[in-house]
Amino acid sequence: MPETDAAPARTGPCFITTPIYYVNDRPHIGHAYTSLAADVLARWRRLEGREVFFLTGTDEHGQKVEKAARDAGMNPQAFTDQVSQHFRDLTATMGLSNDDFIRTTEERHKEACTALWDELVRRGEIYLGHYEGWYAVRDEAFYGPDELVERDGVKYAPSGAPVEWVREPSYFFRLSAWADRLLKLYDDEPDFILPASRRNEVMAFVKSGLGDLSISRTSFSWGVKVPGDPAHVMYVWLDALTNYITAAGYPADPEAFAKWWPAEIHFVGKDIVRFHAIYWPAFLMAAGIAPPKRVFAHGWWTNEGQKISKSLGNVIDPVRLVEESGLDPVRYFLLREVPFGQDGDFSRAALIGRTNGELANALGNLANRTLSLIQRNCEATLPAPAARAPGDAALGALVDALPAVVGAHLDRQDFHLALEAVMAAARDANGYITVEAPWALKKTDPARMEAVLRHLHDALRVFATVLQPFLPDTMEALLDQLGVPPEARTLAALSTPLPGGLTLPPPSPLFRKIEAAA
Ligand code: MSP
Repeated sequence: MPETDAAPARTGPCFITTPIYYVNDRPHIGHAYTSLAADVLARWRRLEGREVFFLTGTDEHGQKVEKAARDAGMNPQAFTDQVSQHFRDLTATMGLSNDDFIRTTEERHKEACTALWDELVRRGEIYLGHYEGWYAVRDEAFYGPDELVERDGVKYAPSGAPVEWVREPSYFFRLSAWADRLLKLYDDEPDFILPASRRNEVMAFVKSGLGDLSISRTSFSWGVKVPGDPAHVMYVWLDALTNYITAAGYPADPEAFAKWWPAEIHFVGKDIVRFHAIYWPAFLMAAGIAPPKRVFAHGWWTNEGQKISKSLGNVIDPVRLVEESGLDPVRYFLLREVPFGQDGDFSRAALIGRTNGELANALGNLANRTLSLIQRNCEATLPAPAARAPGDAALGALVDALPAVVGAHLDRQDFHLALEAVMAAARDANGYITVEAPWALKKTDPARMEAVLRHLHDALRVFATVLQPFLPDTMEALLDQLGVPPEARTLAALSTPLPGGLTLPPPSPLFRKIEAAA
């Protein structure tokens, strides 16, 4: 089990965030993925009994969104109102349990940006200058000439986005002065950036030298105005990153802010790690605010082996995917299939394999066999808690340890390992039921039959409890079938056995198998 000094304390409030999504387009699998990971961790922390603030939202300013609005023939506010709604709808599609949804066009956010800017000015961290260099609107990022490649007379950023030459007056943030303190942060908090490969990449970038950062633009107006100089709008990344502290209560509600900040974790994709792990902690430290505790950068999905792109027409629509395969199988697949932090391939065959093999067979059948036997052979009544015989010990030990094992994996965002651990235990339980053959014991040893079924019921209760964050709907159904009352579905409640004698409802299948041709 991974042990780390940085494992979060078991008590206290936790603030968990997704990136805020650009409203230039409809949600796709990448958005669903980042949000889903954050949702699972938020739900797990609630199961631990922690107070959780889970935030998502939309990034609505900047040149890219302004351009998308213009292309749609709309004014930017009307356009962002419309597209932001698709992201609100995504929270329902994916079953997200977010506590707030922030939009950067809200008044509370403009206040926070203004307060942060004023604080940086007060501390001498901002100066007025002139920016001249390359800018990629698609990434909303500045690039140095040595980072670019040229094809057919057009220069491109490493992300593949075309860049344009920008020359305008600009405010600068003294980023160059923060390199040493950033490196100290990465050294002092080795888990500040996960996974380690991303940490190395960020450290190398910072060590190669940081220039000051242009943090305002004058050639368009769709943004938060710079206080005292309204010809400038704030650089969209400064604006966007600030969302995290806006929602936590900065500056309007110092009590809330002290409670929620620093965030336990910002979930991001690997493409935006530089903004979160370099610029963001530098802005915060420069304003006298603590940096977040962790930035986790996940990998990217390909679709059946191909890069996902609008021009290839292979964008995966989360709404369609959930309609076709069901929400919980999709949630399970996305976090089970690929180690979080690595790139992975979405394939329909793999989704079917996981759903049918693991959810329907290993877990669903175990529940169905156990609960059907209790219905038929125990008059639908839960047998009393039973002492463990030698044959019950191995499964019992595995089940007892499972919540801590899952928790340790989730503390490091190893979602696939957490799921693998539950599946390994479920496979063991299937082995146990085959060996003990409780159906054959009714006539020969009914007391042993009851004990075996009770041990299986106890195991299923643990599986269902720890899987709730991943499979909220189906595990709710399973806990109903197991007769676990709603208030006894936390991790703490697992130490109190259910009383024998409960009447259990007739079981029904939890997962339907997906047909390959569907
Ligand atoms: N607005 C910024 C974030 C600001 S946070 C202060 C932004 N928005 S975005 O809409 O482009 O975000 C997309 C998110 O989806 C990123 O985390 C990105 O990594 C993720 N993905 C986009 N395509 C993806 C895949 N093909 N696979 C997995 N995730 C991908 O960036």
